[in-house]
Amino acid sequence: ISNKISDDFSTYEKLLSTQFSYLTPENAAKWGPVHPHEDTWNFGPLDKIVDFAEQHGMEVKGHALIWFMQLPQNDYLENLSDQEFSEAVKNHIFTLMGRYKGRIQAWDVVNEAIVVNGAHEADYGVSLRDNIFLQKMGEDYIEQVYRWAHQADPKAKLIYNDFGNEGLGEKSDQVYKLIAHLKSRKQPVAIHEVGMQMHLDASSYANPADIVANMRRLEDLGVTVNISELDVQLKNLSGSQAQKLAKQKQVYFDIVSTCVHEPACTAVTFWGFTDRHSWIDSWMGPDDPLLFDEDILPKPAYYGVRNAFLQ
Ligand code: XIL
Repeated sequence: ISNKISDDFSTYEKLLSTQFSYLTPENAAKWGPVHPHEDTWNFGPLDKIVDFAEQHGMEVKGHALIWFMQLPQNDYLENLSDQEFSEAVKNHIFTLMGRYKGRIQAWDVVNEAIVVNGAHEADYGVSLRDNIFLQKMGEDYIEQVYRWAHQADPKAKLIYNDFGNEGLGEKSDQVYKLIAHLKSRKQPVAIHEVGMQMHLDASSYANPADIVANMRRLEDLGVTVNISELDVQLKNLSGSQAQKLAKQKQVYFDIVSTCVHEPACTAVTFWGFTDRHSWIDSWMGPDDPLLFDEDILPKPAYYGVRNAFLQ
C-alpha cells in the first residue's frame, strides 16, 4: 500500500486541498533553489506550487527571502562588493516578489536573523546572527530588506520568522525588540507579522500560557502572529507508541488552541503533513512528527488539531 501511495499524486492533492487552505513552499522559494546564480532563475517548482494553490483556492506564504541557509552553492554572492551585494539582494527581492505579486499573499522576508548571545549586538539592542547579509550590508540590513519588500509588493503581508521565539524568554524578548525598533523608525518599516516556527519536542516545549502572553505583547506593538512550521517530535518521550501518539495529540491540541483563542494569530502552518515526508527524519533523527502517518491516514495528532479548531 505504501508504494502505491508514494506514486499517487492524487492522494496528496486531495488531502492537501481539502484539509488545508494556506500553502507554503518548503524549499522552492529559498534563494539557492529559486535563484542559484546571478542571472539564473529556477521558477518551475514554485510556479507549480502557486498554480496548485490557485486551482484549489488556497492562499500562499512565500518562504523565505533572506535567510543564511540554502543560499547559492557557488560563491557568486561572496565575491560581490558590498555595494554590488546590496543591489543583488534588492534585485532578488524585486524579481521574486514581483513575479508572484497578487498570487503570493504573504512573505517570510527575514528568517532566523536573531541569536541569543549572537555575534553582533546591534545599536538597537538586538543580538544578530553573523551572516553574509550582516557582513556586507551592516546591522540595518533587516530594515532595508523590509523597505524593499514593501516597495516590491505593497499589498503583501511581510513577516519576520524565527524559531524558539514562541514562549517568554531571551529569544522572544529579542524578537520583540526588533519589531519595536522597526516600528519606531522615523519612517516606520512595513512589518506586519511574526512567525513562530515551533518545531517542537513533545517532551519539552514552551508553556502555552507563555505563548499567549508573548502573542499579546507582539499584538500590542501592532503586529499579528502565526505558527509557521509546526511539527512535534516524539522520540524523546517514554512509553508505548500509543502513549506517545496520545501525548503528541495533546501537544498539538494545546499549541493550536493558543492560536485559535488569540485574535492576533492569523494562521497555523505545518512543516509537511505526512510522516512519509518530514525534514525531521533527516535533520533530527527518525520520528513521526506530523498529522498523517506513513500510509497517509490521520493520526491522533490530526484529531488534536481538529478539536482545537472546533472549539
Ligand atoms: C528545512 C527543509 O524542511 C529541509 O527540506 C531543508 O533541507 C532544510 O530546511 N527552519 C526553516 C525552514 O525556516 O526553512 C527549514 O526547512 C526548517 C527550519
